[in-house]
Amino acid sequence: MLIAIPEVLSKADVVRCREILARAAWADGRITAGTQSERVKNNLQLPEDSPEARAARAIVSEGLAKSALFFTAALPKRIFPPLFNRYEGRANAFGNHVDNAVRTVAASGERIRTDLSATLFLADPGEYDGGELVIEDTYGAHAVKLAAGDMILYPSSSIHRVEPVTRGARIASFFWMESMVRETERRRLLFDLDMAILSLRESVGDNAAVVSLTSTYHNLLRMWADA
Ligand code: NI
Repeated sequence: MLIAIPEVLSKADVVRCREILARAAWADGRITAGTQSERVKNNLQLPEDSPEARAARAIVSEGLAKSALFFTAALPKRIFPPLFNRYEGRANAFGNHVDNAVRTVAASGERIRTDLSATLFLADPGEYDGGELVIEDTYGAHAVKLAAGDMILYPSSSIHRVEPVTRGARIASFFWMESMVRETERRRLLFDLDMAILSLRESVGDNAAVVSLTSTYHNLLRMWADA
């Protein structure tokens, strides 16, 4: 399932991130690639421990912590420290690949199973041509290109690519996370149920049926979550 999370970062936070990233020293994106993906990966990336990556990461992490929609969609257990990439000029595309199943955080040695992948767009669609994130799932291929500050969440099990950028620069933050609920289908059911309850509460208030459904949501989460 693909879920767009609007305005994870405000326009002001996007500007702050972009200012930090503008003075950073970018490296070859293959620094985090596996053996299959390094053959098709051609972009730039900030080294995980660079001061600019750390400063921009703090802004992204703050935005994630404030987003209720992100929390209910991902039910995150462990989040890989957000990274940053740039597609521009000759380093302009990333062919079909699947993300590594397990990621190790260099600083702590912590291992994270990648249930979900995220791309947080830091450049507006008008700033560049191409650069769509194309995600393939059982319903076909979906091309995603969002406003700066918006984020897309997708299952890490899906094959995906970034189309060549033919004008301008596509700048984004990306990361992976382990979810408290490992199975995509269960996470989807919980998300749909939570969204339906929210909408019911808005229209009819907290009547007995809404309280009962809310209880069912929490009991399902209790059954399935590995917190
Ligand atoms: Ni990927």
